[in-house]
Order: sequence, then structure tokens, then C-alpha cells
Amino acid sequence: MSAPLVKVLHRLQELFQNMVSALETMILFPSFFRGFSHRRRKPFLGAHWRRRSLDDFADEVDTLFSAPLSTPKMIDMSNKIRAQIRDCLQNSPCCMLPSYTHALPSGSEKGTYLALDVGGSTFRVALIELSGRDQEMRIVRVSSSYIDNKVKLLEGTQFFDWMAGHIDTMLKDVGADYGRGKEPLSMGLSWSFPIDQTSVSSGLVIHMGKGFHCSNGTVGQELGQLLIDSCEKRNLNVEMAAIVNDSSATLLSRAYVDPKTRMSLILGTGTNMAIHFPVHEIGQSKFGVRPEDWFEYAKNVVINTEMSMFGGGVLPMTRWDDILNRTHLRPDYQPLEYMITGRYLGEIVRLIIVEAVETAGLFNGELPHSMREPYSFDTSIVAFLEEDSSISLASSAALLQKEHTFPSSPSVEDLRFLRRICQVTSRRAAAYLATGIHSMWCLRNEVEFPSSTTDLLSKESPEVTVIESDSSAKNVSIACDGTVINKYPGFRDTCQRYLDQLSAQSHPSSVSAIRLVPAHESAILGVAVAVAVAVAEKETR
Ligand code: BGC
Repeated sequence: MSAPLVKVLHRLQELFQNMVSALETMILFPSFFRGFSHRRRKPFLGAHWRRRSLDDFADEVDTLFSAPLSTPKMIDMSNKIRAQIRDCLQNSPCCMLPSYTHALPSGSEKGTYLALDVGGSTFRVALIELSGRDQEMRIVRVSSSYIDNKVKLLEGTQFFDWMAGHIDTMLKDVGADYGRGKEPLSMGLSWSFPIDQTSVSSGLVIHMGKGFHCSNGTVGQELGQLLIDSCEKRNLNVEMAAIVNDSSATLLSRAYVDPKTRMSLILGTGTNMAIHFPVHEIGQSKFGVRPEDWFEYAKNVVINTEMSMFGGGVLPMTRWDDILNRTHLRPDYQPLEYMITGRYLGEIVRLIIVEAVETAGLFNGELPHSMREPYSFDTSIVAFLEEDSSISLASSAALLQKEHTFPSSPSVEDLRFLRRICQVTSRRAAAYLATGIHSMWCLRNEVEFPSSTTDLLSKESPEVTVIESDSSAKNVSIACDGTVINKYPGFRDTCQRYLDQLSAQSHPSSVSAIRLVPAHESAILGVAVAVAVAVAEKETR
């Protein structure tokens, strides 16, 4: 064989070996290869790799998110959600859950109470002083612990042991013997998950959302007892005086100050509403086993509606909602929640970003490494971008670069695209929330004021139910708490505007009939009120 031929064969052999080892690398390290292809895509494919402009893509997102938000369509969705709520009022084991709290506070309850609050991202232990309606409720002391992902993954009793550790620390701070005396120390618990209430102070664990694993292995067990058992391991002598869902705590905290309060709303990591509702409208099976005489004195009862679970098959979903739902730990469990709350807004925006990078050249076609993981784009960034009205969006660029790993700074065009995406996502959230609130308000009107309510089908649009009435009794203030409703820039105002449009359309004589009123620190304050009400009731029986 001639020397040049040998050289060519040698080269071919080398090329073949390189191809084999490249294939091996692809098989053994697919993620590395994915990263490699991201980084190289632009140089490989040249200018034609962009299939559409960022503006075109933003227009599509905008259309998909805004299409369902006309007033007639929202009224139609509200009517359908109301029908779902009515169904669940009869039989559902996980929503429209009646508590044992029938009496709202009189406002004269006094005392200092230990309040625990398990929220979606913080656990708080607080001492609250109530001095009657005319004095402000006082937070004497509070300790807050962040519930990070590691804690959320604690299963069953491990989570209660973690809680007991924090209770122990807080009580030691108050006094060496506090919570270790002969008499058990009474406490109340605000639980931001569904509970199947079995008394004012007890309830059975139901599946938990928000990424918590604590219900694994504890569903159906008694919530208060689980916590007391964990406290006993630390020699704490405590008893549970009241357990309430956080939405009910919000209602109680506001009702203590304003006796006309009948509804509350939470919109933070999760969402929910509580409502003071006539007992006779609720299916008998929903009450479980209660003392016969309970029904004699309880004419209304505080219901934990678990509103997050409504809206499935009614509220239109985009392809990004669909991905979020399909890849969720509990698909379809909380349809409304997955489209409107602090836990999910950032993830919806991230999923849109991923597609925009792939198909419209966002960030020069390179997805920052730090954005690859689900839930890696925090809703606080969404809020920040939306608030930044500067032309250069320089502070948004700085925040993004601080929180994420960009090989090169995002362009102003990229930032404008992101801002628009954040706006449409949060606007739809405010509109869907308003739709849910409107359906709950209409339901309350139907049951509380049956004679003054006439359902007329509009001739032009048979889908739209118009409810005529002149009663100002239908005006409600809704106590609201949670980071999104109270802190996300402009969110509450947008939601209020949608509510005004919906109520004006469905009840032409009721202008601004539904008012959202912020209720700060309502979980810890409300649970203290719940303990005070429970103590007062025990004394009178
Ligand atoms: C839970 C509710 C809770 C709400 C607000 C939802 O995910 O299911 O029980 O009230 O979040 O915290």
C-alpha cells in the first residue's frame, strides 16, 4: 500500500473512532449534549434558526391569555363554577368543607393566646393579645421559620417533629417553664391546607398541595394529635384549642374588627376563600358525626371552600398551563390555583420563556442554565419586572443577572418581551380570581336573598345569567390576605376592576358590591380569635 493511501485510511479510522466516542458521550451524558446543542444552535443554523419574532410570539401569548377575559365570557365561567360549587356543597369530601365555627366573634373576646400558622412558605409561632374590638390586636412576640424545599419534602410525622422543634425554641424564649407546666398550654393552629374538621379543635389530614409531602402517610389521621405527639417528644405540655384553615382565620380576624364580614380570600402561595354560610344549604353527609344539638344552635357555619379546586374544565388553559398540570405532583387537583398563585405564576412565565428561547430567539437562543429546572423562576421576579416601567429596564436586567446565569446580558428587546409576558400572566390571574370570587358571591346572594333574586336569561346571549336585585345587603367586604393579593404590584386593583365589571353586569343595580379589603397578619391574629371564641363557648356551655 502506498504511503498516501495508508495516511487516508488512518484518517478515516480516526474519524470513525471520533464518531463512536461522540455517540457514546451522547448516550452516557444526554444532559451535557442538550446543553451543548443549546450553546451551539445559533452558529450551526445561522440566521434562519429563528422561526418567528419575539413580538409575534408575545402577540400569540397575549391573545391566548386574553381571549377568555371578556365580561360575558367571564360571567359564563362564573355561572359554571357556581354550578360546580353547588355540587360540591352536597357531597365533595375535599372542598366546601364546613368547620365547627358557627358563631363569629362578638369582639369582646380578650386574652393572650398562642397561635401557630403553617403557611405555604413560612411557619410562625406567635403570642397574640386580644383586648376587645376597640383596641388593636397585638402581636406580643412572633418567630418565623422559612419552609424550604427540604422541609416540604419531610414525610408524615417528620414534618410535625420539625414544627415541634420551632415551637419548643419559641416557648423557651418566652420563659424556661412556659409550655412545661402542669396545666397544658392552649394553642391554636392555622393550617393552609384542606382539613376534614371533626371538632373545633381537631380535624383529619387531607392531601396537601404546594409541594408538601407531609400528608404522605398521614391522610385521615388527626392533625392536632400528630402535632401534640411531636410536642410530647420534647416534654411540652400543650393542647389544641382550635384548628382552622387559613382562609377561615382571615375571616375571623376581620370579623373581630368588623362584624359585617362574611367572606375572606387568600392569594399567596395558594388560594382559597372562606364564607359564613347557611347550614341548611349544605349536604347532610358533609357534617360527619356531630352532636345532635350542634344543628340546633348552628344556623350558619364557616366553610373552607377550597376554592383552588374549582374551575377545572371551565377556565381555559393554554399549552403552558397544560404542561404545568401534566408534570405536577397532583395533576388536576387545584386547577384555579395552578393558574393564579404565587407558587405557579413564575413557573408559567418560565415555561413561556423556554419556548421563546427555542423558537423566537429570546436570550440569543440560549436558556440560562439556572432556568432549566421547573419552578426555578420565582414569582417575585415576575412582580419586579411588571413594576419596572423604565425605558431601559436596567434594574430588571440587574435582578435577572443576579438571580440567573446569563452568558451575556439580556437585551432590552428581551426584557420588554418578558415584561409583557409577566403582565398578561398576572392580568389573567386577576381575572380568573375575580371570576371565582364572583361565583361565590352570586351563590351567597342566591341562598341568603332567595326572594329578591330573579335569574333572567339575556336574549342576546343565552349563556349570560343576569340577576336583578336592588338590595344593598348584597354588598360585601372580602377580607384578603396573602403576598400576591396584597403585595404584587397592581394585582388587587386589577382584580377589583374585574369584580366591578362582573357585578355590574350580573347585578345591574349593585355598583361596586364586592370590595376587597386587606387583612394583614390575618392567619396568626385569626387563629388567636378562634381560640378565644372556642374558650368563650366552652365557658358558656
Ligand atoms: C390550600 C388551602 C389554603 C390555600 C391558601 C390552598 O392550596 O388547599 O387549604 O387555604 O392554599 O393558603
